[in-house]
Amino acid sequence: MKVYITRIIPEKGINLLKEQGFEVVVNPEDRILSRAELIAALQANRYDAVLCLLTDKIDAEVMDAVGPQCKIFANYAVGFDNIDLAAAAAHTMLVSNTPGVLSNAVAEHTFALMFAVARRVVESDHFIRAGTFEGWAPMMLLGNEVTGKTLGIVGLGAIGSRVGHIAAAGFGMKVIYHDVKRSEAFETDCGGVYHESVDDVFKEADFVSLHVPLVPATEHLANDARLRMMKKTAYLINTARGPVVDEVALVKVLQEGVIAGAGLDVFEHEPQCAPGLTDLSTVVLTPHTASATVETRDAMVELAAKNIIEALAGRMPPTLVAAK
Ligand code: GLV
Ligand code: GLV
Repeated sequence: MKVYITRIIPEKGINLLKEQGFEVVVNPEDRILSRAELIAALQANRYDAVLCLLTDKIDAEVMDAVGPQCKIFANYAVGFDNIDLAAAAAHTMLVSNTPGVLSNAVAEHTFALMFAVARRVVESDHFIRAGTFEGWAPMMLLGNEVTGKTLGIVGLGAIGSRVGHIAAAGFGMKVIYHDVKRSEAFETDCGGVYHESVDDVFKEADFVSLHVPLVPATEHLANDARLRMMKKTAYLINTARGPVVDEVALVKVLQEGVIAGAGLDVFEHEPQCAPGLTDLSTVVLTPHTASATVETRDAMVELAAKNIIEALAGRMPPTLVAAK
């Protein structure tokens, strides 16, 4: 059995596959393959499985390139908006993702962004490095406290639930949330209050944190109108997918001081940022690194490998997103 891996990943995953006796080919260059390179790489051999990344667009053309012997595309991410599920079904290929194992890392990063932007950590760091610090001052770099504030969660999957738990248990935050469905377990865990309307979450929260998958219904969910519903003192946090936010509209509302700031880990057109975004001192930006911990990346690669191992053994992979 032959497995192709589209980019260098933690060694643990490669070893798990090799221990099965699989022939494992890894893209030797540590960069995103162009579409033509990906297609050429997949055509070069008769691969039985592909371990792919969220930066690889996997559609019908790519599935044709790999050939009908391929059983599974195992995405090294919880999000799978990069994969055309209808095409996978038509090609009778399985698709898996890596849910659960990264929820805590992404939740931690959500708080890293919340605190960084509200307590002005990055600005303060730049202030010191610029040599501007002349000693303690009563009015210097005042931020906003997080404890006791209202957190608005949009999208209550495993990550949103973990964020709500930490917010209530750790920082005494009042939690409100919107999802397509209510969760009694979540409400019991953290006192989360369900809001049927996304607008109401944007209106009431001091921090709006996005945790929805990217699907047509969530594209530009945080649009100009909703951003303008937010409190002047509120912050937007996005660790989900860039296109969930209208980034051009966000730059405008930040420039106009309509909201206090934003913490963003994902961008609408990665790796680019919307014009003006990086000029704003009221945003904290990280390069899609919310799951980037040693522990979590190891766990993700283990799960992706397990999905391939089970699929090639003809058994049910543990975290399928689409059955053939
Ligand atoms: C990262 O963005 C993921 O979907 O795992
Ligand atoms: C701050 O450093 C204080 O002592 O209040």
